[in-house]
Formats: sequence, C-alpha cells, structure tokens
Amino acid sequence: MTYANPDLPVRSRYSTVAIWLHWIIALLLIGNLVGGLTMDHWLDSPDPAQKAIGFVIIGLHKAVGLTVLALSLARLAWRLGNPPPPLPGHMTPIERVLAKVTHWGFYALMLLLPLSGWAMASTGKRVSPISWFGLFNVPPLPIDRAFNGVFHESHEVLGYVAIATIVLHVLAALKHQYFDRDSLLARMWPSGGRG
Ligand code: HEM
Ligand code: HEM
Repeated sequence: MTYANPDLPVRSRYSTVAIWLHWIIALLLIGNLVGGLTMDHWLDSPDPAQKAIGFVIIGLHKAVGLTVLALSLARLAWRLGNPPPPLPGHMTPIERVLAKVTHWGFYALMLLLPLSGWAMASTGKRVSPISWFGLFNVPPLPIDRAFNGVFHESHEVLGYVAIATIVLHVLAALKHQYFDRDSLLARMWPSGGRG
C-alpha cells in the first residue's frame, strides 16, 4: 500500500481517535437507518400518541444525522493526516480493491446521507430550523424547493446503498476474523491488543 507522504509513520493499529470515531459514527448511522426506515410506521398511525412518537423520532433522526455529518468531516480530516495500517499481506489484489472501494464509499455515504437529508428537510412544504437536541438551531440550506423530489429520492437510495455496504463490510470483517484469522478486527477495536 502506498501513501501520499512516505515520511508519515506506518502503524500496526488504527489510532485511538480513528477507532472511537469509527464506532461512534457506525452506531449513530445504523441507528439513523433504523429510525429512517421505521418512522413512517409511527407518523402514519391514527393514534395521536404513536404519531407523537414519530415526531420525536424524526427530530432525533435529524439531530443525529447532523452529528454524523460533523463527526464524519472530522474523521475524514483525521484520516487524511493519519494513514491507516497497511492491509494484511495475504489479501489478493481484488480484495484490496474491494476494501478500498468499500472504505471510500463509506466516507462518501457518511457525508452524502446527512447532506441529502438536510437538503430534503430544507426544501419541504414546511421548512423550519432543525433543533440539535434542543440546544441550538441549525438553519435550512438555501436550496430551491423544486429539488425536494431529487433529494428525497437520493436520501432513500443512499440509505439502501448504505445497508448493502454495511452488510458487505461486516461479512468482510467476519471473513478476516474466522477464515483468515489475521486479527484485522483487533486493530479497529478500542482495547484490541497490539495488531
Ligand atoms: C455504519 C457502519 C460502519 C461504517 C460507516 C464503517 C466505516 C468504516 C470505514 C470508512 C473504514 C475504513 C477506515 C480507513 O481505513 O480509513 C472501516 C474500517 C473497519 N471497519 Fe467499519 N464501518 C461500519 C461498521 C463496522 C462494523 C459493524 C464492523 C464489525 C464487524 C466494522 C469493522 C471494521 C474493521 C475491522 C475495519 C478495519 C479494516 C482494516 O483494518 O483495514 N465496521 N469501517
Ligand atoms: C446518518 C445520516 C442519515 C441516515 C443514515 C438517514 C437515513 C434515512 C432513511 C433510510 C430514511 C427513510 C427513507 C425512505 O424510506 O423514504 C430517512 C428518512 C428521512 N430522513 Fe434521513 N438519514 C440521515 C440523516 C438525515 C438528516 C441529517 C436529515 C435532516 C436534517 C434527515 C431527514 C430525513 C427525513 C425528513 C426523512 C423522512 C422522509 C420522508 O418523508 O419519507 N435525515 N433517512
């Protein structure tokens, strides 16, 4: 594996910052996928109590999504300055390409999913500032309402692409853990010994 800057150190484990950002973002993103795919069930209910739960979920969904956006920008910046440990030597060229495509695809999804959601919420019928857990308001993006359909569609499609990417990523991690037995998971685990 080659890096842009050969003077940067080659690590055997991900840095603590990269590890914590990986797992926090993963949890929040998966939570938002679940919230996004189930919110209609609550919002469409004729029962006012269930509808109210739907509004709470959508509020949390937006705040968590914007958190994912901010953390992902931080993570990308960290990643560009801190090269990851090299991939294990036994991986075939196809596996290496697949790993790179999946990882960079994730970075794109981590930014585009919240951005498309923010853009959708900024172009709907009733647009209002987004409350970040009641602490402060995030303004809507200045985008023409005519684009609402495009952002809605992209947000949904990106959600399904994210699910497929996560499945592939987890299967790859399990293959490394149980077939290759190369301790790949340990180097992305907070207390995972020395990779
Ligand atoms: C939404 C969920 C997830 C996202 C967005 C995500 C994203 C990423 C990204 C972008 C990388 C590459 C880091 C880099 O080299 O820059 C990575 C690495 C990794 N992820 Fe995830 N991940 C997710 C869930 C998971 C889960 C559930 C597992 C455990 C089964 C996992 C295990 C790993 C491991 C072991 C690596 C390190 C691979 C290596 O050492 O080269 N990830 N993940
Ligand atoms: C990690 C980030 C995010 C993920 C993974 C995510 C995922 C999803 C998914 C899967 C859906 C269901 C799509 C459908 O079936 O129509 C959804 C709906 C929605 N999302 Fe997100 N989202 C994220 C961030 C955001 C953000 C930042 C906002 C706004 C600020 C947002 C606003 C919405 C809204 C308003 C809906 C409901 C759309 C409708 O009316 O059907 N999302 N989201």
